[in-house]
Amino acid sequence: MSRGLSEIKMKVHLNDRLLLIAGMIPRGHAVADIGTDHAYLPIYLVQEGISTRVIATEITRGPLKRAIINVKKAGLENFIEMRHGPGLKPLSPGEVRTAVIAGMGGETIAGIIKDSRPVADSLELMLLQPMRNQPELRRQLFSMGFKIIEEDVAIEDSRYYEIMAVQRQTPGSIDDIDITVGPVLRKKRTPVVLRYIEHKIAVLEGLVQPLRAINTASGQKALEKYERELKMWKEVL
Ligand SMILES: C[S@@+](CC[C@H](N)C(=O)[O-])C[C@H]1O[C@@H](n2cnc3c(N)ncnc32)[C@H](O)[C@@H]1O
Repeated sequence: MSRGLSEIKMKVHLNDRLLLIAGMIPRGHAVADIGTDHAYLPIYLVQEGISTRVIATEITRGPLKRAIINVKKAGLENFIEMRHGPGLKPLSPGEVRTAVIAGMGGETIAGIIKDSRPVADSLELMLLQPMRNQPELRRQLFSMGFKIIEEDVAIEDSRYYEIMAVQRQTPGSIDDIDITVGPVLRKKRTPVVLRYIEHKIAVLEGLVQPLRAINTASGQKALEKYERELKMWKEVL
């Protein structure tokens, strides 16, 4: 028997990071959540009426099982389909309009896109939330022909999370600040982004200081890298 939204059982409350991502998803899009883990985002999207069709994927059996249980507890099996497999591989081109790839390293996210170009190219929007290696992700996105159309920062328990909205579009000319800071973040002046820029400057200054006293070749190389980055973050403040 088909179950309607009026019979929702378990209500999901998202953390600020996933909430920010959810807020960037266009209402009415079929959505894929890649590496869904607990399936909180898909459950929220359906409960809030943002989407009525979500495909949630997982590479790992444990999280997959957990996600299936949560979707069942929420009574949303008719709206959220769970699929097992790596990255975008469990999807066919055109099945969804938006894909979310969150909570993984920047290089893993770039690899997922690179490995499934027909699916990635068919998407209207990708929302990416790399945990680290953000510049490397940006570099690879630009070289694959994706444009970062929006960026934002979430704060959760004093940790900062960068979020990027990406579309298949010629990115145009880019410079080192677009790669390191981001083409949107470099111009954004919200209180959270300003705090994030100040945080990045403080972290880089903390790395640069001790390296100035180290006279090895690798120490000098690291010093030059961090000083270059520090200059860029200071330039956008
Ligand atoms: C840290 S959790 C993030 C969960 C959720 N996306 C979020 O942002 O809260 C990372 C999840 O991605 C899954 N994962 C890692 N690499 C993956 C891949 N290549 N394809 C699909 N899932 C993957 C892991 O099994 C894990 O459940």
